Amino acid sequence: MVKIGLLGLGTVGSGVCEILSEKKSAIEEQTKKTVEISKILVNDLEKNRNPIVDRKVLTDNPSDILDDPDIDIVVELIGGIEPAHTYITRALENGKHVVTANKAVLSHDFLGLTNLAKKNNRGILFEASVAGGIPIIKPLKELIKFNKIKEIKGILNGTTNFILSKMIEEGLDFKEALVLARKVGFAEADPTDDIEGYDAARKISILSSIAFGYNVTFEDVDCRGITSISAFDIDFFKKLGLTIKLVGSAYSNDLDFDASVEPVLLNTNSIMANVNDAFNIVSIDGDVVGNLQFYGQGAGKNPTGNAVVTDIIDIINGEFNPIDIERRRKPSNTPKILSNYYLRIFLESQKESDFILKTINKYKLKYRLVKGEESLVLILQNISRQEINNLIENLEIKGRSCYARINSEDYCFIQELNLESFNELVV
Ligand code: NDP
Ligand code: HSE
Repeated sequence: MVKIGLLGLGTVGSGVCEILSEKKSAIEEQTKKTVEISKILVNDLEKNRNPIVDRKVLTDNPSDILDDPDIDIVVELIGGIEPAHTYITRALENGKHVVTANKAVLSHDFLGLTNLAKKNNRGILFEASVAGGIPIIKPLKELIKFNKIKEIKGILNGTTNFILSKMIEEGLDFKEALVLARKVGFAEADPTDDIEGYDAARKISILSSIAFGYNVTFEDVDCRGITSISAFDIDFFKKLGLTIKLVGSAYSNDLDFDASVEPVLLNTNSIMANVNDAFNIVSIDGDVVGNLQFYGQGAGKNPTGNAVVTDIIDIINGEFNPIDIERRRKPSNTPKILSNYYLRIFLESQKESDFILKTINKYKLKYRLVKGEESLVLILQNISRQEINNLIENLEIKGRSCYARINSEDYCFIQELNLESFNELVV
């Protein structure tokens, strides 16, 4: 018999309970053990719960799980940094294995938690923490055995992808789409984490630490979300034959490291542009294997519960080899990567348009221009992320502008278009 202590019984926690119950015999066959949830920690003991859970196992005292010598595996599904970090630490110190879906706590102290598990000869598995139902951590651990990973990129947040899909396909406004994403359980407890790109930044930091072999934290990722994208921008992109996605990317060689999360414009024919709703995609470039793409549901009760239960089975079967995330020295150089950017500004006055163009000319930036009375759209050429961030800051247009990188492969496509013909879109 393997006893599990569950911390949290929300979207993912109830998914895990259902899978463990519905797939009981298949799991017993795989593990040759009976798996039992012996205690579940929640905040509110009085709340209405999924009927599958026996209320007798609920507790609001973490010690009932963390200090119970009979519990073998602690499954942390409460989210956030604290008290999750304290609970995971105590579980490992008390000789328990840990499974978690919590990218916030992992990207905060990946090295500390994985080293603590190693020191105590226990497993910490976290397949559900990145890209929900997509198996990505396990394949990545396999890949790094002899592949050198140069680049990882992808759509890593289900909530923002769901919101953008609803805005583009159904014409919903941002707030309506966010309400829907929260209702179905995709969003974080604080959805700012999703819409400002923090959740995707945490996920790219976890993937980077494993792939590149040095500790990458949330603070290492230059991150922007989707809150500035308006119906005006979406209309404009559609007319250009482009779509917008929130993309996380990380790149490393022996000298350089760069990681970002930002809105990116993609040709509607590209693979990534067709990843919709709460689906995610992760693309990895290995020097031997070449490019691999992993696609599937990135959030939700069943896909995420599936990843958690898979980790539980691996722990029971003794498949929890530690990851060495300090295999290499972290490069100190951030490369200056030049791209092209869409920049839209809602003007406060007509005069402002001249001022903005004068400033841009002062920086000797190359651009193509679409001009209206109330808005200005520029396609800035060969500009780095750092430069455009500074430009927005200096022009003091943060609250009324939107900028998005144009994927390099898709820029040639834009170049062929006559931007002036889009003038009627800009009022
Ligand atoms: P929910 O907000 O739905 O559930 C959180 C659960 O944790 C609730 O049962 C809550 O209790 C309990 N809880 C929260 N804080 C405490 C505390 N301090 N002490 C005791 N219990 C507490 O979260 P999700 O299930 O959506 O997410 C769980 C984790 O999984 C997070 O780390 C999230 O990032 C991650 N994740 C979520 C995905 C998703 O699609 N939702 C996908 C992939 C990962 P109560 O019920 O009493 O309020
Ligand atoms: N809030 C997260 C998302 C959950 O929308 O992707 C899955 O990690």
